Amino acid sequence: MSATAPTRPVLPPDIKARKGGVPLVVLTAYTTPMARLVDAHCDIALVGDSVGMVLHGMPSTIGVTLEMMILHGRAVVRGLSKAMAVIDMPFGSYEEGPAQAYRNAARLMAETGAPAVKLEGGQHMAETIAFLTARGVPVMAHVGLTPQSVNTLGGYKVVGREDEAAKVLADARACEAAGAFSIVLEKVPVGLAARITAELTIPTIGIGAGVDCDGQVLVIDDMLGMFTAFRPKFVKRYAELGQAADQAIAAYADEVRSRAFPGPEHGFADQVKS
Ligand code: KIV
Repeated sequence: MSATAPTRPVLPPDIKARKGGVPLVVLTAYTTPMARLVDAHCDIALVGDSVGMVLHGMPSTIGVTLEMMILHGRAVVRGLSKAMAVIDMPFGSYEEGPAQAYRNAARLMAETGAPAVKLEGGQHMAETIAFLTARGVPVMAHVGLTPQSVNTLGGYKVVGREDEAAKVLADARACEAAGAFSIVLEKVPVGLAARITAELTIPTIGIGAGVDCDGQVLVIDDMLGMFTAFRPKFVKRYAELGQAADQAIAAYADEVRSRAFPGPEHGFADQVKS
């Protein structure tokens, strides 16, 4: 018998138990190769509906479909051995009510193998979160700036300053009471995020919400410098892979045009030496 316990992937109760501990490390991933890289260093690989903007060139996340999330979710789950996959429920796949949300969350989990979903919304989603969690669907909630509501919010603004703070706090409390195992706070002022983090018993995962959250999430293409259409203030670039790719592609184009590539070492002899 092995002296060490068999390893198993991270599951929602493990994430919940990390409240107040070493910060949770979360990045988005949309493909198997990126999921492998994320798996080596992170606790959660979030298959965010940001995939629509980042990989598919959409102007917002509104047009992302359940089929897209299933396709990218499967690819990510294939690349993970330790980190937990969480899959975003796309716009229009859960807002009608608990039954619609359950039907589509069940598809996301069954067809990808991911153990949890994420959905946007606070108090108005509490009934749905409770319905899902009571039926075996672990839910990560998402309050503050909820990009699927960009058209009603009027842009990608900070949410929770001054009079808005009480609503964001009430949203976070409602998600916890409904059974969410963790909650994303997006573009919430730092003081409010710290207050929510201190009050809730589930981990808060911040994006543009300051250092006091129980964890941090970034969109991977943002932090690697691969998505350059715009750059939110909360993004720190840890690499400039977009620039590196641009230089590599330019060098390739030059070498093809000048016939420097392919060289003799990249070709195949007409006859195999005996
Ligand atoms: O879609 C996404 O990538 C997200 C994160 C930014 C939290 O929801």
